[in-house]
Amino acid sequence: MKILSSLKWKSTGKTLGQGGQASVVEVTNETGEFSGTFALKGLAKGKPKQAYERFAREIEAIKQIRHSSIIQIIDHSNPTDEFQFYVMEFVEGAKSLKHILSGSKNPYYANPQKSLQLFIQLVEAIYNWSESNIVHRDLSLGNVLVLSDDSIKVIDFGICQIDGGDTITLIDEGVGTPNYMAPECESGALGEVSIASDLYSAGKILWSIVTSMNAFPVNLQYSDKNQSQIFYLILQRLGIFNIFLRKLSVRTLKIDVKMQRKRSILHDVFNS
Ligand SMILES: Nc1ncnc2c1ncn2[C@@H]1O[C@H](COP(=O)(O)OP(=O)(O)O)[C@@H](O)[C@H]1O
Ligand SMILES: [Mg+2]
Repeated sequence: MKILSSLKWKSTGKTLGQGGQASVVEVTNETGEFSGTFALKGLAKGKPKQAYERFAREIEAIKQIRHSSIIQIIDHSNPTDEFQFYVMEFVEGAKSLKHILSGSKNPYYANPQKSLQLFIQLVEAIYNWSESNIVHRDLSLGNVLVLSDDSIKVIDFGICQIDGGDTITLIDEGVGTPNYMAPECESGALGEVSIASDLYSAGKILWSIVTSMNAFPVNLQYSDKNQSQIFYLILQRLGIFNIFLRKLSVRTLKIDVKMQRKRSILHDVFNS
């Protein structure tokens, strides 16, 4: 993505994210007004009118929300500007949950306590923006950044809804994250989009982080067989089997002790 030379922001050359609609690059301030590095999200060139409308809505939403778990905006374009962008705080060392889950070690895996700590932060953030009548609609593993102290920053209000506004075409254009997005948020779906839609996605995120698995499609038909497999997986991931194995080893230990006693009695008999 090329940043206009007339802007007060200059790319460091590092791309932080690249999607079909927009790119996120690391930038610094040219005027000395802001020190340090920031993240600039810019809409790709030649996008349809709806993409511009959505981008303007994204800026409007992030501007309204002030919360420690939600990314803060520093600067943005005007609605009529050709290059649409906004600049946000750069979350140093932050990794998206998607990145964490695809790595070799997912610290949330089989760790319900840690997973719930993240879930609670997410629910608090949802509650905060719902007070401004905003629905994020696209909470997914890629849109939650985790910092080194385990706190989170929710990003990407790209398809949010503000104050019961229009429902916009989503899936048709390939925006939004399938399986994590609530069914009522999908293109052409009926049903009211509300805080419940964001809570639905938060629940799927919780499932994914604790199991290290991607969320299932909404319409997946569960057979008895895969239901029991899923149940088994949940138990396994939650560490229930560890407790079971521990009980088992206590039993084995008792048998060992008994055997040992028998052996020593026999030893006594034969050696007397
Ligand atoms: N403020 C930020 N600090 C660090 N990385 C970021 C920041 N904002 C976005 N990113 C990175 O860029 C990726 C894409 O950003 P996002 O806003 O979700 O764009 P898209 O609309 O293309 O999904 C994120 O998953 C994250 O890895
Ligand atoms: Mg995103």
